[in-house]
Order: sequence, then structure tokens, then C-alpha cells
Amino acid sequence: FRVNWDLMTAEKGGYDHFMLKEIYEQPRAYRDTMRGRISEDGRSVVLPELSITAEQLRAVSRVHIVACGTAMHAGMVGKTVIERLARIPVEVDVASEYRYRSPIITKDTLVIVVSQSGETADTLAALREAKRCGARVLAITNVVGSSVAREADDVIITLAGPEIAVASTKAYSTMLIAFFLLGLYMAQTLGTQEEAEIAHVLAAMDSLPEQVERILAQADTVKGIAESIAKSSSLFFIGRGIDYAVALEGSLKLKEISYIHSEAYAAGELKHGTLALIEDGVPVIALLTQEDLFEKTVSNIKEVKARGAEVLGLVNEGHEEESAKSVDRQFAIPRTLPLLTPALSVIPLQLLSYYASLALGHDVDKPRNLAKSVTVE
Ligand code: G6P
Repeated sequence: FRVNWDLMTAEKGGYDHFMLKEIYEQPRAYRDTMRGRISEDGRSVVLPELSITAEQLRAVSRVHIVACGTAMHAGMVGKTVIERLARIPVEVDVASEYRYRSPIITKDTLVIVVSQSGETADTLAALREAKRCGARVLAITNVVGSSVAREADDVIITLAGPEIAVASTKAYSTMLIAFFLLGLYMAQTLGTQEEAEIAHVLAAMDSLPEQVERILAQADTVKGIAESIAKSSSLFFIGRGIDYAVALEGSLKLKEISYIHSEAYAAGELKHGTLALIEDGVPVIALLTQEDLFEKTVSNIKEVKARGAEVLGLVNEGHEEESAKSVDRQFAIPRTLPLLTPALSVIPLQLLSYYASLALGHDVDKPRNLAKSVTVE
């Protein structure tokens, strides 16, 4: 993947970096990825690009999601989405591990490969292995005509548009939109959700672009937070359930471009070892968007605060008063359905890593040692 950086300066459209431009393109990218895939009455998902029949979908007894890096993190959200909406068991694998662990792949297995570029060598090899074992392969990719798109049985294209910055932003978030659509499509085909429930989720999805715009309008607040954490040598992200999946992505983003060491932990797992690393002043970013898990995560926040951690809470609007009792600082995101929160909560985390990298004077769009697309195993 070669880029002529001189010519590309003109294509940043007034933004200092491609990454920032791509972060700001997300409302548009969400709309494009949803457009034409929701029925006019807003009550069902239409995916004419899929050739898998209702009968074939009903025969699926398990789903494997296989991907690398950021795409794998989108797959972790996808697991929760498909399991909750369609009630089919889902496993998520890192593509470089999948082939070598002798996975149980049968003709009733639907393998979903997720890849922005559609050219990642490990993902492509996993796709080929799945097909060799007789599984049906569905790809979620951003590139029409890519190897993954050509070799899969079914393809859902994300309409993020070209992503130039090495750190993926709009490609990840539109993969989430694709998973929401796919999960709903499976649910309506299998009859696992009421029509009214599907319409309810679709209505909430319709508000996501405008809600992202509202988060982007608060970029300066995130910038201030980023400048303070940029001085840290290490930090932690914690969350439960779907918040944990987003915590992993937030942590990866920060490592990729700011080079600050960070780890994401399932909040309840922290006390089984990692708590030893928490000392005075260590920043902990706690994701608190799942209100059914709020109290549980708050008890983990108490564990880190007792060791001196500085806790930043990522919370839902309207819940600030409650969370203010437990965190030092907070950032609120607009309210949506619990299952859809990743499409909003990831936005401040992208901005956080962007501004931390900027504050440290790093090359935001071309981080050291990393490539946009890894076509070797
Ligand atoms: C590279 C990129 C990552 C990306 C991963 C998978 O390592 O630096 O940002 O998540 O590849 O790429 P893909 O194109 O398959 O989504």
C-alpha cells in the first residue's frame, strides 16, 4: 500500500490529519452504510446483496467471527449483537490463531470475516480454511473487489469511503453499523425478535449520525483530557460486556498513535492481577454505558480509586449525577439503546488518542512500525 503524501495533502479537506478528517466523516459514513438497507417504513432490514437464503440461515447453528486488529474488536461487538438479537452462539477469533487451533467448522457454521482492506493475509487465509472445511463465508469489508470480497460467498460493504490514516476509525465504526444490520436481518429471518423490537432498534440507529455530530462538537473537552493523560506512562481502560469490547479498541487506538502503554481490562478481572499496577495518579478510563452493569463497574472503580487511580468515566447523558459520586472526571455521550452504544462511545476514545498523539508530537497518520494493510503472515 503506497501513498503519495505530497498529493494527499490537498485531500485532507482542511483537516490537519487524515485521522481527524476520517473521525469527522463518521456521521456521513453511518448514513451511507445504512442507506438503502432499511425498508421505507423503517420496520425491517433489506440486504439484497446477500445470496444466503432464509433456509440456509435457519440451518446455521454457530457463527465464527474472524479478523485482525481493529476489525477483530468490531467482531467482538458483533458477537454480542448477533447473540442477543439472533440467539445463535458466536465465537470470535484472531485470524492468525484461527487456522492453527483446528476450529470445529461444519457446513452449519457461518464464518464472518471482517476486514477494512479485504487484503489482510491472515484474514484471507482464515477465509480459505473456512471454505475448505465447507463453511459458508460472509465478509464485512470496506473495499469492493478486494480479495476477501471476491472470495467470500456473501459480502456486506461498509461505506466508510477510503481510509488513509493507519489508525482505523470510520472503518471500525461502520463495521459496527454492518453488524447491527446483519444481526437485525438474522433476527427478522429467524423470528427471534418481534417486528416492533426491530423497528425500535432501527429508529435508534437512525439517530446515531446526529448523535455522533453532538459528540464531535465537544472535541475540545476531549482535547483537554487528552493533554492531561499524555503525560502518563501507562493507563488502563475498564468496562463490562460490550463496554469491554470498546475498551479494547480505545486502548489499541491510544497505543497505536500515542505510544503510551495501555491495557484494557474486563472491569471485574482487574483484581486478579492487574490491580498490582495501579498506583497514585495512574489514569483509568472507565466505560459505564451499560446501566444494568453500572453498580458492578462502580465497585471496580472503587478498587482502583483506593489505590490512587485518577478515574475518567465515559457515561450516558442523564446519568452524570449518579456517576459523579464515583469518578474524578467524566464525559457523557448521548443516550441510545445499550446494544448500540459502541457506535457512540468509541468516538471520544478516537479523539482522545488523536489529541494525545498530537500533544506528544507524533506522526498521527503514519505511526512507527505499523502498516495500513498487512499482506504478509
Ligand atoms: C493492520 C492495521 C490495523 C487493522 C489490521 C486489520 O494491522 O494497522 O489498523 O485493524 O491491519 O486490517 P483489515 O484491513 O483486515 O481490517
